[in-house]
Amino acid sequence: MAEGELVRFEKDGDIGIIIVDNPPVNALSPGVPQGIVDALDKGNADASVKAMVLIGAGRSFIAGADIRQFGKSSAPPPTRRHYDVMDQSPKPVVAAIHGYALGGGLETALACHYRVAVPSAKVGLPEVLIGILPGAGGTQRLPRLIGPKLALEMITSGRHVPAEEAHKLGIVDEIAPEGKLKETAVAFARKIADKKPLPVIRDSDGKLAEGTPELFDNMRKSIARRARNQRAPYACIEAVEAACKLPFDEGAALERKLFDEQVGSEEAKSLRYAFFAEREVNKIPFIPSDTKLRPTDNPAVVGAGTMGGGIAMSFADNGYDVKITDATPEALERGMARIKANYETSVKRGSLAQDEYERRFARIHPVPSFDDLSDCDVVIEAVFEQIPVKEEVWKKLDAVMPPGALLYTNTSGIDIDIIAEATSRPQDMAGTHFFAPANVMKLFEVVKGTKTENDVLATAMALGRKIGKVSGLAGNGDGFLANRSRAPFGMEVNLLIEEGALPEQIDKVMIDFGYPIGPLAVADLSGLDIGFDTRRRRAAMYPNYRKQPIADAIVEAGRLGQKTNAGWYKYEPGDRTPRPDPEVARIIKETAAANGIEQRSDITDDEILKRLLFASVNEACKILEEGCALRASDVDVMWLHGFGFPRYRGGLMYWADTIGVREVYNQIASWHQRYGDRWRPSNYLRQLAEAGTPLKEAKAQKAMP
Ligand code: 3HC
Repeated sequence: MAEGELVRFEKDGDIGIIIVDNPPVNALSPGVPQGIVDALDKGNADASVKAMVLIGAGRSFIAGADIRQFGKSSAPPPTRRHYDVMDQSPKPVVAAIHGYALGGGLETALACHYRVAVPSAKVGLPEVLIGILPGAGGTQRLPRLIGPKLALEMITSGRHVPAEEAHKLGIVDEIAPEGKLKETAVAFARKIADKKPLPVIRDSDGKLAEGTPELFDNMRKSIARRARNQRAPYACIEAVEAACKLPFDEGAALERKLFDEQVGSEEAKSLRYAFFAEREVNKIPFIPSDTKLRPTDNPAVVGAGTMGGGIAMSFADNGYDVKITDATPEALERGMARIKANYETSVKRGSLAQDEYERRFARIHPVPSFDDLSDCDVVIEAVFEQIPVKEEVWKKLDAVMPPGALLYTNTSGIDIDIIAEATSRPQDMAGTHFFAPANVMKLFEVVKGTKTENDVLATAMALGRKIGKVSGLAGNGDGFLANRSRAPFGMEVNLLIEEGALPEQIDKVMIDFGYPIGPLAVADLSGLDIGFDTRRRRAAMYPNYRKQPIADAIVEAGRLGQKTNAGWYKYEPGDRTPRPDPEVARIIKETAAANGIEQRSDITDDEILKRLLFASVNEACKILEEGCALRASDVDVMWLHGFGFPRYRGGLMYWADTIGVREVYNQIASWHQRYGDRWRPSNYLRQLAEAGTPLKEAKAQKAMP
């Protein structure tokens, strides 16, 4: 084999084996499709070959088209696409699937005559998640194979289907024992070598009859909420509908046309950016990639409150046995009852099966004392957010945790160094900030203390991923990265209300932008008393603290949010729909007047959107300036997974680039003139604007403290 050959052809007796070898995931980069065509030609021309097996080298079958090539001016499409060459191959071709067969990978497998997979393999058409639709026949072949209903579900969700399920659906013909893929596929190929006629999916249309107009209309209706502002999910439906109405080649031509229109869209570019940003966030430039991680097989959680319980559930949900403890047996009992109730709600809602709930719950082991944690290799402390409380807990943990154990503290704002110094081993301590509800929210903010060892950070990042989270690194500045960059957004919400915007106006702007729920409805959901207490504390600590009289007046009127059926909105008992309340409008008006705040009636939707988001862009630049974030794309990942920022807009900084760095800076500078210091532009933002450097390319300006 020539060095670096992307596709090679070998023989196992009378079976030709086509091996795709394009690490890391065998994407269909330039050269791979042509290599497959050449290998098929070779096999078909060789009289001693009766059938062929297509298999991937390394860890996967084929993960799809090479996404990095999208949007680049590409070579003209090949005259013979490998999918068509396979379809027409006179000798049978068997796809042997391990790892992933996704997108163009599954489309390749569907163009083969048969598919064999190991149980751990996953197949899917996830194109919709990057703003496109399958563009190589997936929308035409899959409905022919499994029927349009199931195909629509797979294609519009983009989900990865495990091999066993794919076998039941009829996508996979045979399951091979794990680790024995090649020999099983070769034996399978031998078994079917003389079968005629060959099963060619494009020629079979029996299953298409179920593709009635209602099926597609209902699908459009059912995705309307989550597909808001996007076109790709609808293009997926249109293409599957075409499969039911048109001959294969015409359907495929429509699919291709939709693909070509979609691949260069802003939606697709933003989603591709988000995909790569989520991979970049795992890379920490100052930590060598071969850093040895510490073990995390035996985790423990200290503190069985809402946060600690959610953290324990995250471990249990991802297959870990986890110990949990609290200061008193009563607190621990209450915590376990809350965990149980949470799981039971999921079972009632139908999102969790009863037996799976029982398995998960059984993995959470309440233990009465810290001494029971002495065999744990990692502990996550999630006790009350007060320094003396945390210090006391850590002194005790320091006495029982074995040497080298990972000491992680869940805090949303306490200085990690202060907590670390409560132990004799600050180098083993890092912050791991979960977002509420901890078992649901994906963001896992890892915070570096001054003395934190590299392997402690790298292990925290990896642990987050193992429990299904998206990890991101932050420096130990006030509010770390995520909440600090989000705080000015929250401040502008309140100030806009003081100036005369109503909650429903602000929420509508943000929902139209793409948030699943507006910021004031979120506040009602979380409870307004929390912010009220924080403001009280801060006002007592800082003499110049900017009070928020309207937000305070709402709470003082007994409106604590959904739990009192009244907050920024009113709620009917048992119904979570936020309803605008004239009483709130009255409180806003009267409180503004009483505090001498001038209101105006000319607040536009554009001003609302830009004030909320630009304030945060400016803060993110300050965070980068201080080295407390590694890169702008990390800010974006945190906003996607911590705050519900619409993914098809890429992320906060990426979105700001769609306005333009200079325009963002000029607007901030002009608001600085009008509103004063809170809009002081970041120096770094000014430099970026002067140089015309896109915000998404912004990087830390200092080493992380
Ligand atoms: N194209 C280019 N690069 C890809 C890629 C792709 N399709 N899939 C993965 N990569 C790269 C990643 O960027 C990463 O690169 P890096 O090491 O430089 O950061 C590397 O491969 C490894 O990827 P992951 O870190 O994501 O590895 P995992 O093992 O965690 O996940 C995976 C593997 C599930 C395959 C995941 O990478 C994935 O979801 N990939 C995208 C799959 C996809 O969307 N396929 C459809 C493509 S579009 C298409 O096929 C169009 C067709 O219809 C014509």
